[in-house]
Amino acid sequence: MRQRGPSPAPAPAPADPGRAAAVRALAEGMASMRGPLLPVLHAVVQQHGYVHDDDVPVVADVLNLSRADVLGVLTFYHDLRRTPPTAHRVTLCRAEACQARGAEATVAAATDRWAGSTDVEVGEVFCLGNCALGPSGMLDGALHGRLTPDRLDALTEGWPA
Ligand code: FES
Repeated sequence: MRQRGPSPAPAPAPADPGRAAAVRALAEGMASMRGPLLPVLHAVVQQHGYVHDDDVPVVADVLNLSRADVLGVLTFYHDLRRTPPTAHRVTLCRAEACQARGAEATVAAATDRWAGSTDVEVGEVFCLGNCALGPSGMLDGALHGRLTPDRLDALTEGWPA
């Protein structure tokens, strides 16, 4: 067991004790793994959709890490969500090959269309391995190529503004 100086201040009580118990059970089940932190955080995202701030002290306690250790990993990897997932997600490639094929126009259109939306999240990625068919993007997890603002509108028809 690792000790890191004086004990930290106790974490405030979680807002959702049921969730805290579920996260604790999940982390305890994986604690014996080698390097369990990242797998535990991925499992929390898979099970609950995101890692809530209240999950951090629970995971830290189970894995005998500091809250800063957990938060450092959590904030380093963008795929580890810290907010509830939206109904729809648009992830557009902004790497060189897609930029050369005009990706920025689609990025700008998507950003404008869903600015402030609580239902649609627009994100970026740097290469989806679909360069030959760029500009590329993922719409709710499905890969699409040759994205233009018009094609994006057609593919997302009926999505909330
Ligand atoms: S650069 Fe966009 S898919 Fe490779």
